[in-house]
Parts: sequence; C-alpha cells; structure tokens
Amino acid sequence: MKYKTAAAPQQLLDEACRLQKLRLQDLVARDTRRVEALSLAVDGWLADFSKERLSSDALAALLRHAADVNLGAWVDALFRGERINLSEGRPALHTALRQADDTPVMVDGVDVMPAVRATQRRMRALVAAVHDGTRVGAAGKAFTDVVHLGIGGSDLGPRLACDALAPIRGARATLPGMHFVSNVDPEHLARALGPLNPATTLFVVTSKTFSTQETLANAQAARAWLQSALPVPATASAHFIGVTANVDAAVAFGIARDDVLPLWDWVGGRFSLWSAAGLAIPLALGWTVFADLLAGAARMDAHFRAAPLPANLPVLAGLVGYWNVRVLGLRQRVVVPYAQRLAALPAYLQQLVLESNGKSVTRDGGPVVGPTAAAVWGAVGTDSQHAFFQWLHQGTDEVPVEFVVPLRAAHPLAQQQTLLVGNALAQAQALLEGRDDATLRAELAPLGLNAAALDAAIAARRCPGDRASTTLLLPRLDALELGALLAFYEHRTFVESILFGINAFDQWGVELGKQLAGPLVAALLADAPLPAATDASTRALWAFARRALRDT
Ligand code: F6P
Repeated sequence: MKYKTAAAPQQLLDEACRLQKLRLQDLVARDTRRVEALSLAVDGWLADFSKERLSSDALAALLRHAADVNLGAWVDALFRGERINLSEGRPALHTALRQADDTPVMVDGVDVMPAVRATQRRMRALVAAVHDGTRVGAAGKAFTDVVHLGIGGSDLGPRLACDALAPIRGARATLPGMHFVSNVDPEHLARALGPLNPATTLFVVTSKTFSTQETLANAQAARAWLQSALPVPATASAHFIGVTANVDAAVAFGIARDDVLPLWDWVGGRFSLWSAAGLAIPLALGWTVFADLLAGAARMDAHFRAAPLPANLPVLAGLVGYWNVRVLGLRQRVVVPYAQRLAALPAYLQQLVLESNGKSVTRDGGPVVGPTAAAVWGAVGTDSQHAFFQWLHQGTDEVPVEFVVPLRAAHPLAQQQTLLVGNALAQAQALLEGRDDATLRAELAPLGLNAAALDAAIAARRCPGDRASTTLLLPRLDALELGALLAFYEHRTFVESILFGINAFDQWGVELGKQLAGPLVAALLADAPLPAATDASTRALWAFARRALRDT
C-alpha cells in the first residue's frame, strides 16, 4: 500500500488502497456528481473537499467511524461543560464565552454565565474609558497606545484578530494603536516601545497562570521603562491591566485588583481569545467588532451543535484531516490563506492544532496507535507561490493543501482582489491536474528542439498533478466571518482529537522545557553549576555560550 498502514478501521484502509491506484484528476473528471457530493455550502461558505484523495464511499465509511466513536455525544459533552479535559479534570467551555443567550452553563453546580457577562461588562467599561479618555495614565494623559504582553494562546488569537480586522477600525482617531509583544527576546519589547510615549502607553498583561517567564519578564521590563520616565508611585497601577486566572499574582506585581480581569480554568489558553484574554481586540477595534467576532463564533457553534454529521462543516473537515493523517499517513498539512489580513493564521493554527493534537497518549493513558496531528504550517497566497509552491507542484512529497479564500475584499482595489482569488483557484487546479508530457510537447514544439533536448525540457517542466487540496471560500473577511472561521478550526481540531482518541485540551509536553530552562539560565547568569545529570552536548553548548556572553 502506498500509504503507511495505521490504526484505522479496515474498511477505511481498504478504500484508501483502492483509491491509491487512481489519479485525482481522473476521479474528478469521471464522476460528474463528485464535486457536489464532496462539497458543502454553509452560511455563505463553500467547502470543496473534492480534490482530496477521498471518495463518497470513503466519506461514508468515515461517517460510520464517527458514529462508532460517538462523535455526536462528544460534541454534546463539549457544549454541556462535561470534564472532557480528562488529565486536568476540567471542562472546555470556550463556547460559553460567545453564547448569545444566558442559558445556564453549569460548572461544579454553578452557572458560569453571570460571571461571563460580568466580565464582558467590565471589559466594555474599561474599553470605553480608554477610548473616551476618562482612563488616563500617571501623568493624567489619555492613552494613545496599548501594548499587549502575552504569549501562545495569550497572544496568537488576539494578535490574529487585530491583524485581520484592522481595516474595519478605519481612521477612528479615538482608537489607540495596538502592539503585541510575546517573545522574551528583548528586541521584541524594545522594537515595540521604541516609538511610544510612556505617559500615553497602557500595558495589558495577559497570562492565565501569571507565571509564564516570557510575559513576566516583559511586564517587569515594561514597568521599569514606565517608571524611569514617570517616577511616580501611581505608574504601575495606572498603566497596567491584568488578565489572568491568578489575580493575587497580578496584584502582587502592582496591578490594582479592580484592573485585573478574570480568566477561568475551564477555558484553555489557545481557546481564550473570546474571553478577557481578547481585550486587545475591542481596545484596538471597538466593542462592536468584538461583539461581531463572538457572534460569528456563536453562529459556527450553532451549526456544529445542530447540523447532522454529513452536513456538518467542522465534522467533515475533521474527518478529512483524520483520513489524510491516520489512513493515508500524510504527515503535513499546508494552510495557505489568500488574504494578507490572515497572514497570522498559520501560526495561530500551529498552536491550536499541534498543542491540542500533538500527542501520543490516548485519553485513557494508553499509547496511541498510528499518527495523530500532522505538522501544520503555511503562509499567505500569493507570496507562497513564490516560495514553496515549487515544492508542492514538483517535490517528492504528497502534502494536502488547505486554501482559505475570503472572496470580497475590504478595500476598493477590486481588480487586485480578483487576481488574488483567481490565483488561489488556479493553484488548486494546478495541483490537481499537473501538466502532462503530451501537453508540454505541444507547448514546446515551436522551439524546434532536437529529441534529446525536448525530452529534457519536458522532464524539467513536468508537473505530476494528482496532489490533494481543500478549498474553503468565505464571502468576506469581517468580524462575523473571522469569528466563524476560528470557531470552525477549534471544532475541527476537537473532532480530529475524538477520532484520534486523545485529549485536545491539555498540554503537558510544554512543561519539561520550561523546567530545564531554569537551571540553564541560572548557570548562564551566575556561576551556578549545571545539574550533574546535564548531558555532554548541553554542557558543551552552555560552556561556549557562557564564554560568549561573558566576552560581550
Ligand atoms: O505554550 C504553553 C502555554 O501554557 C499555552 O498553552 C498558553 O497559551 C501559553 O503557554 C501562555 O500561558 P499563560 O497564558 O499562562 O501565560
């Protein structure tokens, strides 16, 4: 079999075996019903899976498998707040954050919706005070700039939303400039603070644990920057907002308790942009945009919860993702958003997918049999056509590509938007059809090459095609559609986790590196000895680095 066998139902492996003998371009050409059968239109979107190495029989078998693993019951459990994050004994209730009504959502016998609404009211009041100038800094000046300090799920979602929706902000002078700093690399903070005026800069320290080294280091450096310019006691409290589940730690840092917005342990970091962790979004864009973002996610939630599996977009996408990874053994997934405003989408998806499904232990602690998350990466189109599409078209690896294409632009240059959309469709077509020898021979005939030269020219230009992709067309990219898109990816990731039999909501794998960094940093900073068990390679690298750092 062309693909590595893995732990998947035999009926799926058998269908994959049959499909591997066929070319995608032939599958599409020969079955006139294929595109309709393997596409789904929902709320103005069109998802076309017909270019995937799939068939109606494979999809039917996948849907049977989804039923066999009680996917519908898992979806209900997610929305009901059951403790499906088994290793931490927690619910995963990011859906409650964007719930449109106040239907009770119970956690430990308590309805969490009043707390969600109270926090949203606090967020809205704070945003209004910053925008109307009633919230001022230690020097009595209104804020012109906000610096969001956070990393991972406390950065990627808000950053993506602010980037994608910036055009909606328009030229509203009352809105502050928004800056994101995540890396502990001092360059990151320095570059952000360089052009800013301390007297008119507000920092939002976003950290669920309020113990993440990068965020705390940046918060301390920001406080020092402020206090050197504004040596008054009120500086720390006037210029900092905290967003955390660890309120006492934020207060200990110097943030006024009334300026600390809560995060809850039943919302995972990478699912938290809908909470106070997303404060940067209404600060940068206004409350209406944030409300629309929540409404878009709620629209996708309603679809995910109610649509039957065969007409359920996150379910179909999750089934295709499972099929590509677990049955076909494809270990990469390239995401190409054809929208400059979605340039941060691949990085956001890397955390969402790989921190959720980059696991090798099943929910009940046994070893996973077969691959789980594929490596997610990508870049915007059309730039990526001038970067890695050569590899996609003529390389030796088969890598499914995901084209995300908002159709209408938020700018008047309609002609360029048409170029963008046309290129997206053309690239998916080129991956499917390729360019065969007969076509190339006809194209090259006018050059009058001799036989050997012509064969060589054909060989260099041959594109095998037969390369899979999914295309997702959105009507536009506004707050509503972006909210729906991010919720779609959250739910697709959850579906894949259920099919893989893993817990999507913990991330124990990130702890070891953090633990090992402590003594290494201490040994670089001072003359503290390395732990005796330190391996020879790390020890040699540490010694070289320490000498270099000492020589500066
Ligand atoms: O990457 C590990 C992680 O814990 C993520 O899950 C989280 O989003 C990020 O670090 C930041 O954590 P915190 O919000 O607690 O600072």
